[in-house]
Amino acid sequence: MPILQGLVQSKRILSLCTCRCVCKIIASQCKWPVISQRKQSVLAHVREWSKQRSHRESRLYTVSFRNFNSSSQQTPFQRKIQIATYISCGIGACLLSAIGWRQYTRFTRKARGAEAIRDQAVTGRQIISYRYRGFIIPAFMVDNLDDLHRFQVREEDIWIVTFPKAGTTWLQEIVYLIANDLDFEKARSKILEERFPYLEFVNPGMKAISKMESPRFIKTHLPPSLLPREVHSKNPKLIYLARNPKDTVVSYYHFTKSLATINYFGDFSVFFDQFLNDKAIYGPWWKHVKEGWNLRDKDNVLFLTYEDLHKDTRGCIRTVANFLGKSLSDQQVETLARHVTFASMKVNPSVNYSWWAGWAVKEAHENQFFRKGIVGDWTSHLTPEMSRQIDDMVAEKLQGTQLVLEDMPLSRQAS
Ligand code: PPS
Repeated sequence: MPILQGLVQSKRILSLCTCRCVCKIIASQCKWPVISQRKQSVLAHVREWSKQRSHRESRLYTVSFRNFNSSSQQTPFQRKIQIATYISCGIGACLLSAIGWRQYTRFTRKARGAEAIRDQAVTGRQIISYRYRGFIIPAFMVDNLDDLHRFQVREEDIWIVTFPKAGTTWLQEIVYLIANDLDFEKARSKILEERFPYLEFVNPGMKAISKMESPRFIKTHLPPSLLPREVHSKNPKLIYLARNPKDTVVSYYHFTKSLATINYFGDFSVFFDQFLNDKAIYGPWWKHVKEGWNLRDKDNVLFLTYEDLHKDTRGCIRTVANFLGKSLSDQQVETLARHVTFASMKVNPSVNYSWWAGWAVKEAHENQFFRKGIVGDWTSHLTPEMSRQIDDMVAEKLQGTQLVLEDMPLSRQAS
């Protein structure tokens, strides 16, 4: 609390200083004949005003200064100079306010515990992420943290929680269709982002999601510890999906490179280092997955893996249906399994993110969201050394969890 009060106070002082500077500039500009005799009185005003400590007095001063300055004896030239002075003062005030506002938001972000990560070396933007409570969060959510923590959860909600590129979209379509009794028409009528919004993203945003009708379908890449508080008290249905880190890092790299908004221009080895050193957005990967794994015994939680979905799509569909309290005939399972194959989803305009073309993704990467969709693509990207580094990371960080992800060194992983 004292920190926040301090911040509010510093904002107030900043705006007072801004007004004060503007007045000083105006006073120093008063060099033309008509008002030069008044310069002393202006400075006296400024001096007196600087003793004041409130916005109300600043406003009063502005009014009296305007009255004083609008002399009918001015020549057109003097009038022009006067207007130019007003304009430059206005611009100066705007600039100073902008700087003040920027500093203020920086302070408040810091006060909330979010620390900016500068990454200009490999992205077109200076700051794309923040470190917050042990995780890297994207810049677009740093100013919504309070809304996020307070987001109202409903028992009837259905949540999918994943580290990016774990197969979220695949599972979203499965869950949506099972919960809607395989209403394929309904699923095709709206794009996935509207049917199954991304909680922390700016579009459609938490306000819009909070107004959606139940049952709501919510996707998030936040780790369980950063989910809205009510997730842990209202206990909505929550599915955590994990993918082996080697394929995850490869998929994540291609995806990040495709985004026009980030403009990533590092090569794979740079991205790999960031992932390994816990700097990838939403990382550390191991901490995210570990938190999801630790929830698995709760009645409202189902833990799945991308590799399971691959190996036994039909089995996973049945598991998800049971979890959601739905029963599907063998025929329905078959129909759904065919609907969600990689080939079918890649050409389905309601799920394939083709609506991002022309703005969110670079032209060369359009329609690449569904890139390969296989297990083990990492073998064509990771060097033996990189593979070993990931093995070591998993062995060390997931030690004792007994979490098994395909393509991982199982013997070293299990405790
Ligand atoms: S995101 O942006 O985090 O929501 O992406 P996400 O959907 O989690 O992951 C995208 C990867 O999942 C693959 N994918 C599939 N694989 C197999 N079958 C189906 N139906 C399927 N749907 C999505 C997608 O191709 C991405 O993986 P990569 O390895 O990049 O191909």
